[in-house]
Amino acid sequence: MLRTHTCGELRIGDVNKHVTLTGWVQRLRDKGSLMWIDLRDRYGITQLFLEEGQTEPALLTAARSLGREYVVKVQGTVAERIAKNDKMPTGDIEIKVSSIEVLNASKIPPFTIEDQTDGGDDLRMKYRYLDLRRNPVRESLQLRHKMAQQTRIYLDSLNFIEVETPVLIKSTPEGARDFVVPSRMNPGEFYALPQSPQTFKQLLMVSGFDRYYQIVKCFRDEDLRADRQPEFTQIDCEMSFITQEDVLSTFEGLVRHLFRSVKGIELPTVPHITFADAMAFYGSDKPDTRFDMRIAELTEVAKGKGFSVFEDAQLIAGICAKGCAGYTRKQIDELTEFVKKPQIGAKGLVYVRCEANGTFKSSVDKFFDEVELSRFAQKFNANAGDLILILAGETDKTRKALGELRLHVAGQLGLRDKNTFAPLWVVDFPLLEWNEETNRWHAMHHPFTSPKPEDLPWLDSDPGKVRANAYDMVLNGTEIGGGSIRIHDRGTQQRMFAKLGFSEDESKKQFGFLMDAFEFGAPPHGGIAFGFDRLCSLFGGADSIRDFIAFPKNNAGRDMMIDTPSPISQEQLNELGISTNAPK
Ligand code: AMO
Repeated sequence: MLRTHTCGELRIGDVNKHVTLTGWVQRLRDKGSLMWIDLRDRYGITQLFLEEGQTEPALLTAARSLGREYVVKVQGTVAERIAKNDKMPTGDIEIKVSSIEVLNASKIPPFTIEDQTDGGDDLRMKYRYLDLRRNPVRESLQLRHKMAQQTRIYLDSLNFIEVETPVLIKSTPEGARDFVVPSRMNPGEFYALPQSPQTFKQLLMVSGFDRYYQIVKCFRDEDLRADRQPEFTQIDCEMSFITQEDVLSTFEGLVRHLFRSVKGIELPTVPHITFADAMAFYGSDKPDTRFDMRIAELTEVAKGKGFSVFEDAQLIAGICAKGCAGYTRKQIDELTEFVKKPQIGAKGLVYVRCEANGTFKSSVDKFFDEVELSRFAQKFNANAGDLILILAGETDKTRKALGELRLHVAGQLGLRDKNTFAPLWVVDFPLLEWNEETNRWHAMHHPFTSPKPEDLPWLDSDPGKVRANAYDMVLNGTEIGGGSIRIHDRGTQQRMFAKLGFSEDESKKQFGFLMDAFEFGAPPHGGIAFGFDRLCSLFGGADSIRDFIAFPKNNAGRDMMIDTPSPISQEQLNELGISTNAPK
């Protein structure tokens, strides 16, 4: 080793030791006769000290020629500092330098390598290897490492086996577009990169592996957001001979283990909510339950008073913002603008202020008297000082809009604390959802999910009513995992493909291998996959998953550092049998 110690290691007990450190120059302070250098590595920062009269002149000259981010090897003696720094673990000591060797010089970095950097997003992404030198980014990746380690420890203790599945495969429908890879040896034919290892893990169950997991890269060509990357990682799991409750308790166990071992937090039992209740009470299939503010329905008490917006509505419902009766006109206008944004889609917002003196002031005073408004308030258990916000319209849209408003108001009220964790199982998802664009039924989860046997009679007459043996784990309003009990017989799987609009021929071509496997003794099985990047970012208290991925892509799906996607040569295209390079 070039060094005797790391830059985070030395303490007062090491005084007088002769040491060799290596690292990057974080900062130089030259006060003429005295000079300090902060030397940084992955483990911390140690202060180096040089003094005119004590240090050889040549050494001082060498120190003065250093620049930020130079890589150096330094020898010296550990000394007690006169001015101690109790914010640094090494703050009691410094090194009296006896030699400096420059291992490599550095250009001036394009942004400061500090916890709070002056570099914008694009610059940081372009020089990601420098960004990764910063503490917060490095710590995020260290957290990720710890989470992966603890995941393996937990699953291994329960007899799960990690099996790698292929990356060059055939399309697996998970609802996004595939990334495809042309095959040189089979001109005109393509592999698809897995959106998940779904079919393979099911085949492993047919093979008798019984309990499988894999921390695995998945690829989805979809619109990107703060919690979505085109390539991301799942903790992918599957089990045989289990019920839905077994899967839920096993993986609730994983999440509890991670919270305990990584964050020292003992989670309460994870509550279950049905999809139908989640939509009715929170307007979302991934409710943020760190705070209550449930949606309450007013349709019964608000109709029949001649207010046309309410009269024409399928649903009238609202939320109660505790203690917000004092919101100004401007604040309420801002909320109205919020719900009218195209992505929220409400036409307007009705408010009822519960005044301190027990009276009500509303935007619909013309239509509702005090008694009627007090009936509204009762539905929310509202008290004096609260503000009721009401939307009306088509049921699903109104619920979703209220769900968004609920999050927005809670954000303003500081109710979405990053250090509070509220996990939740959402169960009983619908099996199918109608897609207006394609004019057909789509699998809400994926086509391998089994229907609830008691709902099967509706599969033909009222497909939207059939519930699935499917579940999501939600944490603080983010879907961190999803899974289901699978279909494991050919007949049901074929029936499902037919319902999804696949001809027999198409389903055979795409998934014949799986249906064939089901005829060779497929055990009942089910599983789940967690979004590992999302889980890490929630543990780390971050809004974006990017900093938990060493080399992420930007929102346009580009890697700014290696500058890709990028064109390939005509030669390569010819070899692949692809005749044109599509224009940008
Ligand atoms: P699903 O499609 O719900 O299920 O994915 C599982 C989890 O993966 C995470 N996730 C993502 N994270 C980052 N970027 C993305 N683009 C992205 N897409 C999904 C989410 C999600 O909950 N094969 C099934 C699992 C199963 O049935 O066992 C599947 O992939 O946190």
